[in-house]
Amino acid sequence: MSPADTMTEPEASPSGGVVDAPLLSVEHLKTQFFTSRGVVKAVDDVSFTLRAGETLGVLGESGSGKSVTALSILRLVPSPAGRIVGGRIMLDGEDILRVPDSRMRKIRGKLISMILQDPLTSLNPVFTVGDQVAESLRIHQPADGRLRERVLSLLKRVGIPDAERRLESYPHQFSGGMRQRAVGAISIASGPKLLIADEPTTSLDVTIQAQYLRLLKDLQKQSNLAILFITHDLGVAARVCDRVAVMYCGRIVEEAAVRDLFDRPAHPYTRGLIGSLPKLDRRVDRLTSIPGQPPQLYDVPPGCPFAPRCSEAMDICSRKVPPEVSLASTHRVACWLHADDESRHD
Ligand SMILES: Nc1ncnc2c1ncn2[C@@H]1O[C@H](COP(=O)(O)OP(=O)(O)OP(=O)(O)O)[C@@H](O)[C@H]1O
Ligand SMILES: [Mg+2]
Repeated sequence: MSPADTMTEPEASPSGGVVDAPLLSVEHLKTQFFTSRGVVKAVDDVSFTLRAGETLGVLGESGSGKSVTALSILRLVPSPAGRIVGGRIMLDGEDILRVPDSRMRKIRGKLISMILQDPLTSLNPVFTVGDQVAESLRIHQPADGRLRERVLSLLKRVGIPDAERRLESYPHQFSGGMRQRAVGAISIASGPKLLIADEPTTSLDVTIQAQYLRLLKDLQKQSNLAILFITHDLGVAARVCDRVAVMYCGRIVEEAAVRDLFDRPAHPYTRGLIGSLPKLDRRVDRLTSIPGQPPQLYDVPPGCPFAPRCSEAMDICSRKVPPEVSLASTHRVACWLHADDESRHD
């Protein structure tokens, strides 16, 4: 059986593994850009897992490697400058860095879907919404007389009222919230298992933002989707994520269940981010209130990349990359403050 045949039956995963195995497992991923200034280590030894039905937030300042991580999973890192130079990415039992391009194209179209928050740029203004949803279905399923029915059912699933009438509307005749729903319909047309949502840096109207987050949650519930949710916004991460991975300079410096991250942040960087948040449910667009700037990624100093900005830095921090320390079953941190004496001495 080809992996594509197992779309609706997670038990029959090609890995033959347990049903509970993660849908996505990123292991020691390294993605670099070879530029005239040097090698940009955009993603530097990143590991995480994601299960069906779960939302993992990826949080970090601009340039920390969030989008490049997503592009690596899609195998769409811009070449020739960008290259995945190490690691493994397992998706639904398949080692997707090793499959041929033809298979990867199918995986991108079917198993993984990417949704952008800005509904204006995701819909084509010259075609009706109905046609655009139909097109996304046609790519994945053979066209038949029931296409209109399927488009309608998809529009209803994402909560577009009066879908029959709206089929003939153009995107500009839709409200922002409705456009997002149409984009949502397109993104689930293939029946994906993994949805990657990469927030743009521009801030959205608060109401539209809230609608978008609700839509994502609805889509997730309906199809047991795994969601990788990339954001700058700590408040948003708190609302939608089960777990959060905090990235700094291409590395995950801390990962925890969302409550633990807010109640017991262990990395000084995470503490700085949380300390900079006026109130958990208030929006912050930029997480830059920690003094100093991240280093250039083609010139990362030895040791912990946060050390130059860290108020708790010790001598070892600027000499040796900190080991990853497990604080609880779902809480890990890469910081010398939490390392045992033994690892400091070898
Ligand atoms: N095509 C490219 N060529 C060279 N360097 C790149 C390229 N694309 C990304 N980078 C570098 O990789 C690093 C990570 O970029 P990435 O886009 O993943 O950041 P990000 O965390 O998504 O930031 P933002 O929050 O602004 O979207 C940055 O230093 C960026 O300059
Ligand atoms: Mg980005």
